[in-house]
Amino acid sequence: MNRRPRRNRQTEVIRNMVQETSLSLNDFIYPLFIIEGQNQRIEVKSMPGINRFSIDTLLEEIHTCVELGVKAFAPFPGIAEQYKDKTATESWNPDGLFPRAIREIKKNFPQVALFTDIAMDPYSSDGHDGIVENGEILNDETLEVLGKMALVQAQAGADVVAPSDMMDGRIGHIRRVLDENGFHKVGIMAYTAKYASAFYGPFRDALDSAPKAGDKKTYQMNYANSREALVEAELDTAEGADYLMVKPALSYLDVIKLLRDNSNLPIAAYNVSGEYAMVKAADQKGWVDGEKIMVETLTSIKRAGADIILSYFAKEYAQYLKK
Ligand code: PBG
Repeated sequence: MNRRPRRNRQTEVIRNMVQETSLSLNDFIYPLFIIEGQNQRIEVKSMPGINRFSIDTLLEEIHTCVELGVKAFAPFPGIAEQYKDKTATESWNPDGLFPRAIREIKKNFPQVALFTDIAMDPYSSDGHDGIVENGEILNDETLEVLGKMALVQAQAGADVVAPSDMMDGRIGHIRRVLDENGFHKVGIMAYTAKYASAFYGPFRDALDSAPKAGDKKTYQMNYANSREALVEAELDTAEGADYLMVKPALSYLDVIKLLRDNSNLPIAAYNVSGEYAMVKAADQKGWVDGEKIMVETLTSIKRAGADIILSYFAKEYAQYLKK
């Protein structure tokens, strides 16, 4: 035998030296849930370790994360039922919870990068990412709302807006609205290949944003498809996206790789709530070593080709690095 691959696995120094993929805190965006009130820190039942924060405690949490080396955040608002309506008017209220939170975060932590969510569902009385009429999700009418939402978020201080709605033409529309209003420096992270997935369950619990009727299959992608991700990627790129995202991550590593191989834009992957919840649940039962699985799965997302990982594990990974 003149070829013995095990030679490169003999010592830790050599293993580390030949390691092809490594994670860095530069790679992470940490999602955060915001609610109204004061001194609130309510754990999401299906996501141990993840809380819903009022703005005051959110700032404390970001402070802790920044100290740990987390540099970028993706906040999501939980909107009280009385502010929800069919056209999500609260989503473009400049004094609403979300713009207020963005302004406070940027005032206190100007150095962090904020990737803010654009979608109607947290503000929609139908729990959908678009305007619903007779059970149908209206595309072009929804774009108007998304554009207004993007503008309010940019005015509040968002670095990058991240449309997670999957309406056709939204990247181009949002780019136009931002540019017309002087926000050419605000970037767009497109949820390019966002699949209709059961892995979003815990997130919808956290924000109380599940669809009241029907499902999201007429706008989110069929999980059986990968070539369709290239169609979405072409459009988002042509319309002006600065980043492409694949979501969820772990059952979609092939899609991450596909976009990586076919695009020169930064590729992000969203390691979603259900993926987090499964690891936590199995860890709590003592069935797997949650910390090892965290590092292994995050590494696999990077190995597949993601430059950026949105993950509820971002803070815990930063804590793990400090051990
Ligand atoms: C909705 C949105 C969802 C997530 C992010 N934005 C849920 C959905 O599409 O129903 C899910 C994130 C997660 O599960 O962690 N615009």
